[in-house]
Amino acid sequence: MTSKPAGSRYLEDDSRAASLFNQAQTVLPGGNTRQSVWTSPRPTYAVSGQGYRVTDADGDSRIDFVNNYTSLIHGHANHRIAAAVQEQLSEGTAFGLPTPWEIELASLLAERVDSIEQVRFTNSGSEAVMMAVKVARAFTGRSRIAKFEGCYHGAYDAVEVSQAPGPDQWGPVEEPNAVPFYPGHPGVSDVTVLQFNDIENSVRLIERDADTLAAVVIDPLPQRAGLMPAEPEFLQAMRDVTRKHGILLIFDEVMSFRLAKGGVQSLLGGDPDLTTIAKIIGGGFPVGAIGGRADVLDYFSPSRTGPKLPHAGTFNGNPVTMIAGLTAMQMMTDAEYERLSQLGDRVRNEGNAMFQRLGVDWQLTGLSNMFRLHPNTRQLRNYRDAWRDADETRRANAIYHELMARGVMLTPDGMGNISTAMDDAAVDELLSALESAVHAVD
Ligand SMILES: Cc1ncc(COP(=O)(O)O)c(C=O)c1O
Repeated sequence: MTSKPAGSRYLEDDSRAASLFNQAQTVLPGGNTRQSVWTSPRPTYAVSGQGYRVTDADGDSRIDFVNNYTSLIHGHANHRIAAAVQEQLSEGTAFGLPTPWEIELASLLAERVDSIEQVRFTNSGSEAVMMAVKVARAFTGRSRIAKFEGCYHGAYDAVEVSQAPGPDQWGPVEEPNAVPFYPGHPGVSDVTVLQFNDIENSVRLIERDADTLAAVVIDPLPQRAGLMPAEPEFLQAMRDVTRKHGILLIFDEVMSFRLAKGGVQSLLGGDPDLTTIAKIIGGGFPVGAIGGRADVLDYFSPSRTGPKLPHAGTFNGNPVTMIAGLTAMQMMTDAEYERLSQLGDRVRNEGNAMFQRLGVDWQLTGLSNMFRLHPNTRQLRNYRDAWRDADETRRANAIYHELMARGVMLTPDGMGNISTAMDDAAVDELLSALESAVHAVD
């Protein structure tokens, strides 16, 4: 099939996407097996990707600023990663034994991130967060955790509390409600919910619950909460209060690890005890990792005497993921991080300047190589600020499809990120598509 540069054929009722979606609805609930790729009225279906472009089942090709939700830092079908994986495929894909490559990838992470002494691999970011919370409990002998309203940390009960509450559920800003994510959600009252970037209330609530808190979990650049960076003094306050009370500070850098060679903590500070990482370190394959203090991670050690936290996982550290991840990370040099960050700055600075020039109610937030589009111009510091009312939701949905029609793919909620396959031309195309899309929406 020849691919065309842009279009919206997936929205037409006689499209291949419509036919696939109809089929999908018979065997997948709602036609879906991954919430984040759902869009109304239907998604388009990917069939191939090369560099920074993805071609869909109707033959339309677009610039991919989604990069499988930030994990593809080298874009699609990178030839060096493909060659490394190909070689391993013919040598065996998984063994009931450790392999040398898990040591190499762990060493690379420990070298790059100041707060990481040792590493434990998992198969997803969700699992990494779950095991980080569990090891914090084992280490402290306490069971509660604290997390921030509206922040996403994957599919584990404890961190799903207040993941996406609506305004009628929020409660007072001084003490946000702990809101269940689904009917029957266990342990909701065992989670202290805090307001992002709010030092005074967060410190007060952490001190109130200090005796029972095992960990405070923070993503310093939380995408679902709006992609506004944590303020460095806020991270420092969280570091100080947790250290004072023997509570572990967990940074969830599953996404935000892609922002800098030493992770987002090297940009914003915070010195966490544990860091969860995933996405880019798998080189395009499923992965997760917990890095951090050796005395905490020692609870995973099979030879530890005394209390421990055994941790298995059929595909933990499998050689295909380890080799793909190692190849991908070795290609991420200081110069590449700098180049991606500059392209991200261009998107935010030139995009925001354009919105101002046009006098339209849009803005871009983010940091380094990640950005997010918001259908408003108010100051944003936390999830509540970024909450979209009905009209903003309508405009955000509309711009997603308008950008798709112009050959540019962001996530349905407006997030984008830069891959090493991209250059100034990709950013030029994004900015020009944005300019005409905002006219079409407003
Ligand atoms: C901050 C954060 N934590 C955890 C997760 C869960 O990771 P995974 O989808 O690999 O389970 C994600 C996924 O997007 C994430 O962004």
